[in-house]
Amino acid sequence: MEIFLDTSNLDEIRTWLKQGVLDGVTTNPSILFKEGGHDMEATAKAVARLIHPRPLSVEVTTNDQAEMLRQGRKFAAWAENVVVKIPVINEQGKPCLDVVKELTSSGIRVNVTAILSFGQVALAAKAGATYASIFSGRVSDEGTDASLLIRRAVEWLAHWKYPTKIIVGSIREAINVQDAAVAGAHVITVPPQFLAKWVDHHYSRATVKQFNDDGQKALEQFHRKAETRPVTVA
Ligand code: E4P
Repeated sequence: MEIFLDTSNLDEIRTWLKQGVLDGVTTNPSILFKEGGHDMEATAKAVARLIHPRPLSVEVTTNDQAEMLRQGRKFAAWAENVVVKIPVINEQGKPCLDVVKELTSSGIRVNVTAILSFGQVALAAKAGATYASIFSGRVSDEGTDASLLIRRAVEWLAHWKYPTKIIVGSIREAINVQDAAVAGAHVITVPPQFLAKWVDHHYSRATVKQFNDDGQKALEQFHRKAETRPVTVA
C-alpha cells in the first residue's frame, strides 16, 4: 500500500519524505488555495522537484472539456512526475472520460477524481485512468459505506486485471486511514495531521520513557561501581 500526502505544504512534505514513508503527493485547487499557493505553477513545480520521481497530482480547474485537455497537457509538461487530475464528471454532470482517454493515449498519467460511486470507478478504469480517487469522507457524508465501496472497487479491478489504482482521499478522521487500509486501498492520500496521529501513541511515549530512565539508571550504577572498584597493581 502506498501513502501519499494530501497537501502542497513543502515543510510537511519534507518532514514525511525524511521519514521514508512518502510515495507521492496529491493536491486540488482547494488545497492550493488554502496553502496560499496562488502561483499554482510555481508551487506544483517546487513540489514535483522535491518528491521526484514520486507522482504529484495536479487538478484542472475548468468545466470545459477542451480547456481540460489544454490544461492537462500544460500541467504534464511542468515535470515528468506530474499526474493530471480530471474530475469524473463536470459541474453539469457531463462525463469527462473522453479527456481521460485522450490524455492517457498521449502518454499522460491521469488521476480521475471526485469519485463517489462504484460505477464511476469502473468507467474511470475503462477510460484508462492510472488512478481513481474515491472520496471516502464525502461518500460517508452521503450515507454510503465507504469501506464497502473501496473493497468492491479493488476486487473488481483485480478480477478484470485493470491496472488502475484506487486512491482513497477525503480523509476526515484518523480512523478513516485505517479503514481504507483494511478495505484494501492501493493508495491512501492523507492530510499531514492524520499521519502525525497515526504514528503517535501516548503509551509508546511512556514505554520509551521507562526504558530511557532505566537505561540511564543502569549506566549511573555502572559508573559508580567502576569508581569504587579497588585499583590492582601488577
Ligand atoms: C484527494 O485527492 C482529494 O483532493 C481530497 O482528499 C479531497 O478531500 P476533501 O473531501 O476533504 O475535500
